[in-house]
Amino acid sequence: MSVEKTFYIETYGCQMNFSDSEIVASVLHKSGYEQSADPSKASLVLVNTCSIRDKAEQRIWKRLRELQALRRRNQVLQIGVIGCMAERLKDELLESGFHVDLVVGPDAYRILPALLQEVDAGQKAANIELSAEETYDDIQPVRYNSNGVSAFISIMRGCENFCSYCVVPFTRGKERSRDPETIVNEAKRLFEMGYREVTLLGQNVNSYNWVHEKKSILFHDLLEKVAWVNPLLRVRFTTSHPKDLSDELIKTMARNSNICRAVHLAVQSGSNRILGLMNRKYTREWYLDRVAAIREAMPDCTLSTDIIAGFCSETEEDHLFTLDLMNLAAFDSAFMFRYSERSGTVAAKKYSDDVPGEVKARRLSEIIALQQKLSGKSNRSDIGKVLEVLVEGKSKRSPDFLMGRTSGNKVVVFPDNGHQAGTYVNVKITGSTPATLKGVESNQ
Ligand code: SAH
Ligand code: SF4
Ligand code: F3S
Repeated sequence: MSVEKTFYIETYGCQMNFSDSEIVASVLHKSGYEQSADPSKASLVLVNTCSIRDKAEQRIWKRLRELQALRRRNQVLQIGVIGCMAERLKDELLESGFHVDLVVGPDAYRILPALLQEVDAGQKAANIELSAEETYDDIQPVRYNSNGVSAFISIMRGCENFCSYCVVPFTRGKERSRDPETIVNEAKRLFEMGYREVTLLGQNVNSYNWVHEKKSILFHDLLEKVAWVNPLLRVRFTTSHPKDLSDELIKTMARNSNICRAVHLAVQSGSNRILGLMNRKYTREWYLDRVAAIREAMPDCTLSTDIIAGFCSETEEDHLFTLDLMNLAAFDSAFMFRYSERSGTVAAKKYSDDVPGEVKARRLSEIIALQQKLSGKSNRSDIGKVLEVLVEGKSKRSPDFLMGRTSGNKVVVFPDNGHQAGTYVNVKITGSTPATLKGVESNQ
């Protein structure tokens, strides 16, 4: 039995969740906890969870089952479930029959120490209150899992877009923006610590809006402020909602070369009828116009996306519209999913999840196959170019190679010639796969 307070945390889901775990680590450090990388050495195990698709939740249930074995070996082990699934399924978690001491939603991490005191006193503790203000802007995240080169900075929380398929507005609550000064200061601090890349995070960063003394700071203003921290600091952001991607943002990117030439712009579907049912508030024409505007201003900008296959009532024709749009937008990469109904959403209430499983699977595999082709083509087109690569460290596959990323967020592997993580190296691209570029250092 360990008398010392030691926590172990594992994180599922999106980058927001990974960023939140760094905030949780900070809160726990402040209240006297040490962090352990080994759950069997911890007095508290926290699982930061995701609810986005049924599969994501099934994975967590499986993990909770595994953790019961650990608890049987260590009868004083405390187990906490935090994050989106905690928010959505508090009662189910507490009544599941699994040993769970603590259930905490994404806006209640500040009071974790008080909740843990209740657990220490032998009670179960839960708080899933959502807040209209909490941004954790004064908490310095503990970057416990970092490569020392790139870091996330959360710039806003919540989402009010209510895309009809999506649980996020229910698990993360109202949209709110974080004080820009605290964001810029965090970027400065990271740069001084040796970091060379920050990613500004939000569910829809384009609707960032900080209002102070009747003046608004919008996303493109904030992005430029962060870019001006230092020309050697790369700035990325994710994710953008196509309906809010402004010309101002594109201009701001184009005039600051350290804002990365990469836009993640989730399209979800290429069919206007489906986009309407999804409540995405744009058409394929609008989307393709945004893509054209990005490519015109920054011909070297990469474009990535999210696509859902088999949403309610999707026909073969709708699906073909998606494939067609993928070809027209020529995405460099994509995250692709089959539709998973989430209870409580508008889609679950109003539409029938009527595309048969095997049809969803077949359409998804066609989407993946097409994207594989597009990614392969995009990477082949880089062969012969000299690209600036920010080194992140040794390649995982081979110790004789370094791994880094281009401004367009493509992974590049090249022979290790002694460069440290955090340095910029010009690499001549000599080969490619759909997932990776290969090259050699260039003296040009
Ligand atoms: N805020 C981001 C998306 C966050 S969720 C944005 O709008 O770009 C990440 C992705 O998960 C979504 O873009 C969508 O493609 C997918 N997704 C969300 N809900 C889903 C569901 N119910 N079934 C399948 N995929 C879903
Ligand atoms: Fe979900 Fe839509 Fe909000 Fe993205 S913008 S988190 S898909 S509701
Ligand atoms: Fe999952 Fe919550 Fe992110 S549902 S995708 S962890 S916002």
